[in-house]
This record gives sequence, structure tokens and C-alpha cells, in this order.
Amino acid sequence: MIASDLDGTLLGDETALEEFARWLAPQREQVRLVYNSGRFPESVRKSIAKSALPRPDAIIGGVGTQIEMFDSGEPLPGWPEHDIHWDARTIHELLGDEPRLKLQPAQFLSPYKVSYYAERATIEELTAWQLKLHSAGTKTHMVYSSQRDLDFLPYGCDKGTATAFLAEKWELPPDRVIACGDTGNDSAMFTQGFRGVVVGNALEELKVLDAPHIYLAQADFAAGVLEGVQHWMSVSDSNLAELSIKSA
Ligand code: GLC
Repeated sequence: MIASDLDGTLLGDETALEEFARWLAPQREQVRLVYNSGRFPESVRKSIAKSALPRPDAIIGGVGTQIEMFDSGEPLPGWPEHDIHWDARTIHELLGDEPRLKLQPAQFLSPYKVSYYAERATIEELTAWQLKLHSAGTKTHMVYSSQRDLDFLPYGCDKGTATAFLAEKWELPPDRVIACGDTGNDSAMFTQGFRGVVVGNALEELKVLDAPHIYLAQADFAAGVLEGVQHWMSVSDSNLAELSIKSA
């Protein structure tokens, strides 16, 4: 299974994307393809319609808050798993008057995703916002990306856990999943025992990750995805097993 982010990862260089699509086509039967984006599935579908992106099996959208089967358009039942602690209204109430936070436009918000813009937020600021919610008894998962995007998601819900949930449904062990990304919200995909790929044009926040199960590609965008996927596909099963032991 290839689980890849779109903007800045598979999208960004149309010629490289066409090359990726050409490489994938003959082995499409053996490979499950999943797009894992911060955008909602509807917006992802628009990108698929107007680019060389191959048709995926599923779309994970809204930073892991939605999983949708591509052909049927049906959501995967049971996800998000942890909605019991989730209360979007309280987040709006508690953070609504924070001067450094600007609520993202309505098309980027959902009952399971409250997102702000917070330009160059410091660790202290991020901690303070999280503590404010925590002290009020609100359990959320906070994800900061690109030195700007601040997402609050249901606790236990992110791009990584959503991918793991889907892989489990498809009975695929974690080391059969290759996860590709370029910014902070993708890092959650590197904590689930998957093989990671960081594309060459990735932001520093992701490039600093250094672990045996993460491959830093030289090439950018879709060419970096292809380079990384080919790298992991060429690693033999016995080497993979050894890597799993080391990264455990
Ligand atoms: C996408 C989403 C945005 C989110 C960002 C980072 O750009 O549209 O809402 O904050 O990804 O996860």
C-alpha cells in the first residue's frame, strides 16, 4: 500500500507525476493506493479529475479525520474511533479570542477538524494553546505544519492512525505500507511502523527526521515518491525484518 500526501508531495511537478502514474499502471493490481491529504475528499477528487493523479483505492482527508472509499464514495465505518472526547464547539469557544490565531475559512473546517492559521508559532505558544484546552477538560490532538497551519483533531486521530486503521481493515501489516510526505502533518505517518519517504523538496520540519525506517529522497515531488517507493520495494523481506527490530 502506498499512502501519499498530495500537495508538495505527489503534486508539484506534473511531468514527474505522469512518470509516477506510468510506473504504477502495470502493477496497479498488486498495489493499494491511498491519498492522504489535509484537504477534504471532495477537494482531493477535484485534483484527481484535473491532473495525472491515478485513481486511488481510498482517500484519507482532513488530516486523517475522514476515510472514504474512492469508487463507492462511502466513508469507512468506525472512523474516527475516538470521537467520544471530541467537542469542536469548545475549541472554538476557548481559542476564538486568541489574538495570534486566525480561523481558517469554512471550507477547511468540519465537525471533526478545527483549523487555524498561526504564523511562525513558538513552542511556548503552541504549548499554551494546548494547555488551555487541556485545562478545560478538552482532549484533542494538535498538529502544526508549515509554520502556519494549526489543526485540532479528535484525540487519537491523525494521518498516521487513519492510515493504520485502513491498513488493518485491508489486513496489511505495517511494513507493507509505504508512507510519503513533505510537511509536519505527514510526520504522524512515520510513527506507525510503516516505511517512510520524505521527498527532496520537503520542509525542514520533516527533513530533520532521521530513522532507519525513513528514506530521504533526493528527487522532488512525485519523482521523490517514486524514488522512495522503488527504494523500499527493492529492500528484501529479511532486511525489512531487521529494520523493524531496530526501529522498535
Ligand atoms: C491543508 C488543509 C488545512 C490544514 C493543512 C495542514 O492545507 O486544507 O486545513 O490546516 O492542510 O494540515
